Amino acid sequence: MGHEAMVTMSIYRNPDLDPTQAEEPFDYSLRPQRLGEYIGQEKVKARLEIALKAALRRGEVLDHVLLFGPPGLGKTTLAHVLANEMGAPCKVIQAPALEKKGDLAAILTNLEPGEFLFIDEIHRLAPAIEEMLYAAMEDRKLDILIGQGPSAQTLKVDLRPFTLVGATTRAGLITKPLHDRFGMVHRLEYYTREELGVIASRSAQVLKVEMAEAGAEAIAKRSRGTPRIVNRLLRRCRDFADVKGEGIITHDIAEACLKLHEVDELGLDGLDRAYLEALCSKFRGGPVGVRTLAAALGEVEGDALEDLVEPYLMQIGFLDRTPQGRRATEAAYSYLGLKTSDGPLFG
Ligand SMILES: Nc1ncnc2c1ncn2[C@@H]1O[C@H](COP(=O)(O)OP(=O)(O)O)[C@@H](O)[C@H]1O
Ligand SMILES: [Mg+2]
Repeated sequence: MGHEAMVTMSIYRNPDLDPTQAEEPFDYSLRPQRLGEYIGQEKVKARLEIALKAALRRGEVLDHVLLFGPPGLGKTTLAHVLANEMGAPCKVIQAPALEKKGDLAAILTNLEPGEFLFIDEIHRLAPAIEEMLYAAMEDRKLDILIGQGPSAQTLKVDLRPFTLVGATTRAGLITKPLHDRFGMVHRLEYYTREELGVIASRSAQVLKVEMAEAGAEAIAKRSRGTPRIVNRLLRRCRDFADVKGEGIITHDIAEACLKLHEVDELGLDGLDRAYLEALCSKFRGGPVGVRTLAAALGEVEGDALEDLVEPYLMQIGFLDRTPQGRRATEAAYSYLGLKTSDGPLFG
């Protein structure tokens, strides 16, 4: 197995709940195309709407945008939506695919005027390539080194106006010089249950499957705040409804299907439960450092816990991050069916 495969290997135990797992191709049809179809993220949308209108009115390109947030919340979708709103094409690249400076130079010099360049996982750019991006973003210039040794020459190339959209799950890993060159930085939040229900209903319409409101609610509740998981669970429920029911996703059909797939009532994965069990029982509720927790879980990196597991547990109020370390809340104890007296040493 190559290094790349190791890095991107899933840590999730239930593949249905893995937000890092990419869509199947036909899911692209579920992607909202315009800002009006993009559900939730109201603050981000309001700010972007103004920036879009201003840029269109002045006939300029949109400022460079950095999007960050957990996987599956709509960063890639939003990048395409922005390009669509500007009536511009959008080129997509994964940061690790840029190996040489020449790769980036070729892409930048070939952009159409006004084109969008979406760089996913932008925290994984090689340093030399990231540095090249600074002048490109700031001055629309590219320094290209031609030849080698004493006869080498730097060629300055002017670039056509473009908009860079960067996406990352790791805001903490973006260097300051790169961060500072984005005109706008937006954090995507987990979606509310209501928003997830609306996304489920919209996707059901696109897929032409009939779904009861209670069916949408059942899916929304278990999707851990993540549209990508909504869409995946919806597909599972559609199959189930076709085979075991009459093609309609009712409340009972959704419940039975999600039970079959071992999706628990809060959408927590086996890894979330193992994390909470270790924290509540082994470490008596904390505070405990994330590295120590990772070591106790085995085969899971502390980084992966910080990026993928902890944000949602904090969101639903099961976990506090304190300067002393991680602490379980009472809600976590009652979810596990444990008494707080079984655990915490703190008052
Ligand atoms: N705001 C939204 N409204 C409706 N559907 C969304 C929204 N955000 C994401 N989705 C759906 O979730 C899927 C995953 O989104 P994506 O943009 O690939 O997430 P990310 O790039 O952050 O991992 C998309 O295919 C899209 O169908
Ligand atoms: Mg993406």
